[in-house]
Amino acid sequence: MIQNDLEKIREAALARLKAADRADIIDAIRVEFLGKKGSLTEILKSMKDVSKEDRPKVGQLVNDTRAAIEDALKERQKVIEEFMLQEKLKKEVIDVTLPASRRKIGHLHPNTVVLEELERIFIGMGYEVMEGPEIETDYYNFTALNIPEDHPAKDEQDTFYINGDILLRTQTSGTQVHAMEAGRMPIRMIAPGRVYRSDAVDATHSPTFHQVEGLVVDKGITFADLKGTLAEFAKQLFGEDTKVRFRPHHFPFTEPSAEMDVSCFKCGGSGCSFCKHEGWIEILGCGMVHPHVLEMSNIDPEEYSGFAFGVGLERIALLKYEIDDMRLLYENDIRFIEQF
Ligand code: DAH
Repeated sequence: MIQNDLEKIREAALARLKAADRADIIDAIRVEFLGKKGSLTEILKSMKDVSKEDRPKVGQLVNDTRAAIEDALKERQKVIEEFMLQEKLKKEVIDVTLPASRRKIGHLHPNTVVLEELERIFIGMGYEVMEGPEIETDYYNFTALNIPEDHPAKDEQDTFYINGDILLRTQTSGTQVHAMEAGRMPIRMIAPGRVYRSDAVDATHSPTFHQVEGLVVDKGITFADLKGTLAEFAKQLFGEDTKVRFRPHHFPFTEPSAEMDVSCFKCGGSGCSFCKHEGWIEILGCGMVHPHVLEMSNIDPEEYSGFAFGVGLERIALLKYEIDDMRLLYENDIRFIEQF
């Protein structure tokens, strides 16, 4: 009688398990058959009705049935777990062929792009890159550059004074003096850097901007060296077809002095709105180093001569990228910077 019941329970449990396809169903089956009120537990309760001599045999049978059901439960549970794992893996699959999300990276500022280009050109011609202090004395910024106390150039370059003698440099030309005082001949250097002038901000002015100074001092340097060097510079910066012209000018620290124009790189020199129909665009100031300037830095003008030039970095950047407002260079709006 009990044997029959046990057999039925076993078959029922195994049949139910075979159809079970979720972990919670397995749990329910465990409770239903092996739980406190489960059918197998009920059978155990009826053991008291079994005759003494049959008890060990029936007891063994109950244990076998329990073991069989437990094994089947475990087996099924494993199958379901494996199935769930596979389902999960299928859902979480990563397509490695999908393009990655783009990371935004920074951009070089147009000033930096132009400066690196200038450095590349002059380093290629054997120049070294120097840097001078932004805080200067009156001597380096003016006096040693042949700009005496009452010289109008001192008013022209509205100077930020820190005290009577110390100022924010108005030009990078002071680095010429530092280079000459160092006394290592010959000198072939450029010196980029920030300069300051007490100017109001507008589309073409800023109280701080950047210049690149150039200085060559050696025996036998002539105006022809200046012209050849700067013509080559212009070609490398604006293109092989670029022509240059030199207009007489005045700077206190050079004699003779000139301003250099390049042929308009938009129209090739025929005249357009970009060059205001001139065909030429002013690029830099230059000249032969004034003998007095050499002398003040202990260089004998009878033995040595040199040329110098000064370029406005922002001016080149504005021209090269056709930017019509200098303020854009200082606002650092990433939407603007990103374009270079
Ligand atoms: N220092 C001048 C300025 O700020 C630019 C300049 C002109 C520099 C002629 C030079 C030069 O070295 O030879 O306007």
